[in-house]
Amino acid sequence: MMTTAIMSLDKECNNANVVNVKQQLTLLFQASLGVLVDDPEIQPEIKVCDQDYGDYQCNNAMGLWHRVKAKIPTDFKTSHSFGQALMNNLPASQLIESCSVTGPGFVNIVLSQQWIAKSIQKMLRDGIGSWAPTLSVKRAVVDFSSPNIAKEMHVGHLRSTIIGDTLARMLEFSNVEVLRRNHVGDWGTQFGMLIEYLFDTFPDLEDANDQAIGDLETFYKASKKRFDSDSSFKERAQQAVVRLQGGEEKYRKAWKQICDVSRKGYEQVYERLGICLEEKGESFYNPYIPMVLDLLNEKGLVEENEGARVIFIEGKKLPLIVTKRDGGFNYASSDLTALWYRLNEEKAEWVIYVTDKAQRDHFDMIFSAATRAGWLPAEDNKYPKADHVAFGLVLGEDGKRFRTRSTEVVRLVDLLDKAKAGYKDKLVERGKDTGRTNEELEQIAEAVGYGAVKYADLKNNRLTDYTFSYEQMLDDKGDNAVYLLYAYARISSIIKKSGREIEELEKDGSLELTQDAERVLGLHLIRFPEVVEEACSKLLPSLLCKYIYGLSEASTRFYDDCPVIGSAAETSRLLLCKATEIVMKQCFHLLGITPVTKM
Ligand code: ARG
Repeated sequence: MMTTAIMSLDKECNNANVVNVKQQLTLLFQASLGVLVDDPEIQPEIKVCDQDYGDYQCNNAMGLWHRVKAKIPTDFKTSHSFGQALMNNLPASQLIESCSVTGPGFVNIVLSQQWIAKSIQKMLRDGIGSWAPTLSVKRAVVDFSSPNIAKEMHVGHLRSTIIGDTLARMLEFSNVEVLRRNHVGDWGTQFGMLIEYLFDTFPDLEDANDQAIGDLETFYKASKKRFDSDSSFKERAQQAVVRLQGGEEKYRKAWKQICDVSRKGYEQVYERLGICLEEKGESFYNPYIPMVLDLLNEKGLVEENEGARVIFIEGKKLPLIVTKRDGGFNYASSDLTALWYRLNEEKAEWVIYVTDKAQRDHFDMIFSAATRAGWLPAEDNKYPKADHVAFGLVLGEDGKRFRTRSTEVVRLVDLLDKAKAGYKDKLVERGKDTGRTNEELEQIAEAVGYGAVKYADLKNNRLTDYTFSYEQMLDDKGDNAVYLLYAYARISSIIKKSGREIEELEKDGSLELTQDAERVLGLHLIRFPEVVEEACSKLLPSLLCKYIYGLSEASTRFYDDCPVIGSAAETSRLLLCKATEIVMKQCFHLLGITPVTKM
């Protein structure tokens, strides 16, 4: 049986400052529940629902009923009748058009058309910033990209760079101050070998300029070969680490030279991808390590184990080594120190690490140690907190780890070049080169090509491995950046053709969502704040990708079904186009994709 209650529209929604629709509905259902049962532990669950039933649904009436039954004598014979009571006690709100109860007590909600339209118009007036979610942290560290000096950045670092940048952008949009940290591997034992090899190759250090060191990957391989085959070299290399870490001038200078060459390589990649990062590598934390280990020692965490200093972690067989047998520090000691620094010196409330899933164990141990030390609260939902954002592998089309035939790792720059060239070829194939300068073509190909690489990475649940395919990512159909950018370009071109400005439109008329395609698009638009909020709190950029894909589909349907220019509803539809353009543009911005209006 289905019951419908028309909610009165005369009262304003309870909390005008909440822009997140799901949250507003949650508030209304909380109020209704409060009338029925006095227990703050019992909370409603609101979800987007299947279009056939409504727009949203409170879908846990059944579960709630069982809990209520156990607590108080209740008049409700079934969960369905409890669902009905939940519906009948909802405070009046402009938000809701109608409600119905189905099955064992699903309360389905249809939002008011006028309310959707009004919310969109409000955003048009106040700007997209008024749709930014409110998070409970003020400052966060996002540790991402973080390649290792003297080694080529590879596709794993690409994932970290792309995912980390998007997370940082989403948090920044949500008014969180983000410290974007490049935790480069610039302090490992490999430096002894590299420095010693540098001395051998260039006895006069002044000659060891960028060009002379040249390709660091080759330099690294040559020094490794020497290290493995020449025992006296190996010995010198081991001493070089000690002398470097002891701060000897000559060694520090050589170290810096090697780091500088590497850095220039990464910076080129960051510039091409539009990524902003501040380097604070492993070496930065080195001077703080002894003090931090003292702190941990005072708390009784550090123990002696087979000559090394270690921290035992509950549930892990092997302890976390914080000082090696030779007295040297390692990856774990610098990560413990970095975490201490971020929490205590930088006062971050949320520290987020983006690396492949192979490092999960390492971060689990670091976070456990920090919790034991009392730096982090033991409860999951309290701040400050630390999270490891893990991701899977990039696979080649053969289903194996992505490699090229000639070299072992796929170089990042080659990959970006290829995506750009691939899209440029497509433009030429379709005759889009006529009437355009080469520079224009290059610009479009770059925006679309790089955007395609980023989106192909971000759209997957980050934990799953994904297959890298130029063909898929550059196809003009399917769930890829090319399709999204087309949808955007189409909407933009309508606005441009109309020649009308937003201020003028707002004076001329208001937004009305009368056609089905208009309502679907409008409804999708007002979900933006809740989607960004969920993507931030779950650290899942894929949710935002799913959203913009759905938005592109809704806008394409609108484009096909609803003529704009010259139609009786021109002003209203142009307002809808404008709002769509703004929200899509914001999504592109959050995903680090440069939108183009001509493809
Ligand atoms: N350099 C490391 C690697 O390439 C990643 C560092 C991640 N950040 C950290 N704080 N450990 O695997």
